[in-house]
Amino acid sequence: MKILVTGGAGFIGSAFVRMAIGQTDAGVVNLDKLTYAGNLENLTEVESNPRYRFVHGDICDEQAVDSIVRDEQPDAIVHFAAESHVDRSILSPEPVIQTNFRGTFTLLEAARRHRTPRFVHVSTDEVYGSLEAPLEATEQFPLNASSPYSASKAGSDLLARSYFVTYKLPVLITRASNNYGPYQFPEKLIPLMIANAFEDRPLPVYGDGMQVRDWLYVDDHCRGILAVLGKGREGEIYNIGGNRSLPNLDVVQKLLALTGKPESLIRYVTDRPGHDRRYALSSEKLMRETEWQPVMDFETGLARTIEWYRANAAWVARVRSGEYRTYYEKNYGNRGSE
Ligand code: NAD
Ligand code: TYD
Repeated sequence: MKILVTGGAGFIGSAFVRMAIGQTDAGVVNLDKLTYAGNLENLTEVESNPRYRFVHGDICDEQAVDSIVRDEQPDAIVHFAAESHVDRSILSPEPVIQTNFRGTFTLLEAARRHRTPRFVHVSTDEVYGSLEAPLEATEQFPLNASSPYSASKAGSDLLARSYFVTYKLPVLITRASNNYGPYQFPEKLIPLMIANAFEDRPLPVYGDGMQVRDWLYVDDHCRGILAVLGKGREGEIYNIGGNRSLPNLDVVQKLLALTGKPESLIRYVTDRPGHDRRYALSSEKLMRETEWQPVMDFETGLARTIEWYRANAAWVARVRSGEYRTYYEKNYGNRGSE
């Protein structure tokens, strides 16, 4: 089987590529633009494998996408490429809409023209919006996006579904909860807090820190995507959750305890505009239809993640140089404290 992966140099995409090469017989072609979030260092473990090939390109580039899909004739496309960060989408929505919506359209068109046999569109629980406890979103829940990021993902989900309904393109959609693990860019909650804690810098908690997220270890997510790729039904949506809901403050406190740093590092800062209070989802459908279930317990996964960041300080230093500083100043510079 040959899989065309988009965004395979990012956090989850690179974990998926390492898993697909390491644990299956599949060949992988990785199409990635290498934005600030894309890093070929994440793929050193597979780069010399004859079943792996990297193509530098933009999913919005119609000609490039068309020729890759035409020439490679993949058995499946697994589409990760996205601008994936809510805060950046608030500061600068244009690239988010361009890549997440327009880029998905470009890929769907190429898949339609060249009759790709399977198209897995990787999406997020954020499309369901904020849910009151004890609700858990099933795949039937309405879309209720709050940020430009989640709206762009909800839009691309609908577009992907329309290609199934209208053109019979074999599309499957996955919606995962918040991922964590090695190689995550330190703009997201867990790696940002780990990096700051290591340096005794303030840990910026938005608002009251009582927003709830469901945490999914990245390898559990990738196994879920492989399960959907192998056994999912065409045209269906599959939630992939970690079954571990926690308020942000709990996550930060656990992380400080594991790094041996004091809680006095916590800074309550101005909240994110439009901040969703609570995400929660049911993965019952995926568990019922495949053998998949999340296996990583949060405390073990968090400790493992912290150890990875400790052992890979040079990786962190490289990705935090240059552009990261500009972003950090823009997002946190004027936030003040609450
Ligand atoms: P990431 O930001 O770490 O990586 C994104 C990758 O896409 C990078 O390698 C980047 O270079 C590439 N990319 C961006 N724009 C591109 C373009 N125009 N053309 C080609 N490549 C491009 O993202 P991630 O956290 O690994 O997320 C991957 C996917 O999973 C996204 O679709 C995201 O919406 C979804 N998702 C993420 C989470 C999470 O917690 N991170 C949860 C659920 C779903
Ligand atoms: P994030 O990792 O950006 O993921 P998402 O917004 O996609 O859920 O944020 C996770 C939660 O952590 C979210 O409620 C926002 C909060 N957060 C902070 O409190 N401080 C921060 O510096 C960041 C990046 C996030």
